[in-house]
Amino acid sequence: MAKPTAQQRSQMRSLQRALHEYNHHYHVLDDPQIADVDYDAMFDQLLELERRFPELVAADSPTQRVGAPPLDAFTSVKHELPMLSLDKCTTVDELGDWVLRSKTRLADELSSDALEELQYTCEPKIDGVAVSLLYVDGMLQRGATRGDGENGEDITTNVKTIGAIPLRLQGSGYPQTLEVRGEIYMPLADFHRFNEEAVAAGTKALVNPRNGAAGSLRQLDSRMTARRPLSMFCYSAGLTGDWAPSAHGDVLDAFATWGLRTNASAQVVTGLQGCVDYIAALEAERADLAYDIDGVVIKVNDLALQRALGNVTRKPRWAIAYKYAAQEASTTVEGVEFQVGRTGAVTPVARLAPVFVGGVTVSNATLHNMDEIERLDLQLHDTVIVHRAGDVIPKVVKVVQSRRPANAQAIKIPKTCPSCQTSLAHDAEEVVLRCPNAQCPAQQKELIKHFASRLALDIEGLGDKLVELLLAEKLVTNAADLFHLTAEQVAELPRLGAKSAQNLIAAIERSRGTTLARFLYALGIREVGEATAAAVADHFGALEPIVSAELAAFETINDVGPIVAQRIRSHFDDPEQLKILRALQAAGVYWPEFEPAQQGESAAELPLSGQTWVLTGTLETLKRSEAKATLVGLGAKVAGSVSAKTTQVVAGPGAGSKLEKAEKLEIPVMDEAGLLDFIAEHTGDD
Ligand code: IVH
Repeated sequence: MAKPTAQQRSQMRSLQRALHEYNHHYHVLDDPQIADVDYDAMFDQLLELERRFPELVAADSPTQRVGAPPLDAFTSVKHELPMLSLDKCTTVDELGDWVLRSKTRLADELSSDALEELQYTCEPKIDGVAVSLLYVDGMLQRGATRGDGENGEDITTNVKTIGAIPLRLQGSGYPQTLEVRGEIYMPLADFHRFNEEAVAAGTKALVNPRNGAAGSLRQLDSRMTARRPLSMFCYSAGLTGDWAPSAHGDVLDAFATWGLRTNASAQVVTGLQGCVDYIAALEAERADLAYDIDGVVIKVNDLALQRALGNVTRKPRWAIAYKYAAQEASTTVEGVEFQVGRTGAVTPVARLAPVFVGGVTVSNATLHNMDEIERLDLQLHDTVIVHRAGDVIPKVVKVVQSRRPANAQAIKIPKTCPSCQTSLAHDAEEVVLRCPNAQCPAQQKELIKHFASRLALDIEGLGDKLVELLLAEKLVTNAADLFHLTAEQVAELPRLGAKSAQNLIAAIERSRGTTLARFLYALGIREVGEATAAAVADHFGALEPIVSAELAAFETINDVGPIVAQRIRSHFDDPEQLKILRALQAAGVYWPEFEPAQQGESAAELPLSGQTWVLTGTLETLKRSEAKATLVGLGAKVAGSVSAKTTQVVAGPGAGSKLEKAEKLEIPVMDEAGLLDFIAEHTGDD
């Protein structure tokens, strides 16, 4: 066997060291230092050297993350210290009871002033899989699942494939044995990407990120685990050897210095009120987080006080989980209806036995398209799992096949439009079924609803039912007709009094003054969402240049691809659409027009190109969506979370962990007034 030269030895060491560093920046600090291709090239170089000199493969070499040959079975591991579970609460009252109970128990320990000032660490409760990592002399020795808390399974080969888990601790000062506990999870973006690829490849999709993480860790072949996008947050220490930290917050800080990934949203707060504020702030951010959470874990921060409080059976008295409303629930499908959208797309919607999920009662869930029914293998009367997160439309994520009843029935796909009976057509290369009749009453109704919606002309009080009535009574046939309605006409509609008729007319009147971006969005052009509309408006500044622009002019706008450009061009080429547009102008719909700052320049030169902005807290003047659309129109990317890549944070009242993180990372922060000035300066608005 060849002997390595001194130079080859040192090259291997420096490749290992550099790859470790890049890996840590990428997976733990969320701050990549080099391009993926360069990382891969160095990785391949090291692999080649290790192939030639296998005796120099270090146990913590970055190449050891690709997985090992499959195991026959997992071996059982006895936890030195049991892995506890948590008591739960779901209301502020229950949390208050817990705070009171712990204060009563600590009354001998602390003065009444100190009791009032008691500190708690609040952390997101990550919806993943609890694991224990054992480090001996700084080297990752063993990874184990929680199991029943006493005995878990040895998943060392699997955890070694996870980039966020250091194979060797960094820095110094860690104890000789250190047991780190935390949650392995699948980041949401990776989960969605994984599922898109699975659907495209016709393989099995994951039900949710938690199942995705659990399933990945259960692989006997760690090379499979290596292909799954997993990450980890470390949240407590088990065995700590001769290390005796005094507060939980110190444990988290020390973890970070040793290269272990901790959650940036963890925060030390004072008293019940501090906890309650944290819970509310995190819930407001929940839909924007890059991972699923199911609540907040609240821990007494002082470790001596934790010991004084102790445990009851398998649960600590010093910690509690505040659970948010579940985002998934099971129910049955009582019917499937086919809805026609404003662009003619026919969407199957499941009618459900009402179920409480994501904080509201849900009785409908989208099934997206016909292929989804097939993919889920859904039949009428099936039991399904429904997911609802934030304000997102509830969706059916899984059919519980084992509970299929005897009266289950295949779902019939319609051949004709449920509204106008025109034969439905399949879009070329699309799974969408579409009603090709532009005069279809269902499409007209959806178009008018869209025109009046909050992000479009925002006509208050013009809801679904009213639009249906106006169309049924033939008082309107398109959006422009709204502006010719009179209070007398509206008052004659069933169930509408003079007062509400007047209110509606006043709301329509108010909506006449709008912005070009809203107006473009309101037209309901296929695939033109609020961000695209804002980008087009900012690019051209006025309507006529848009109506007459060449196809190629649209394509120069950031984020407008060839398909969207074509949709916009076709819209204004359609005589029917142009007629409605002119009718809207004639009806007195108006907006300020401006000289776009970047006219004639390419998209890459928008003022905020290449920048990433984050909005957090409450905006009082601007709607968040408006602020976002304007920033996107100026070329910025608007992200949901703060990282080292963030250029600028806009923080309103109530801003919490994102603001803190921005301050920690020394990222510039402005308030809403600053943002308004900035926008005025860059768009020529005032
Ligand atoms: S502390 C005694 N912190 O929640 C301390 N747990 O029901 C117990 N979890 O099994 C763990 N995020 O899987 C803690 N920030 C966090 C957590 C967390 C998620 C999970 C963990 C545990 C379960 C407790």
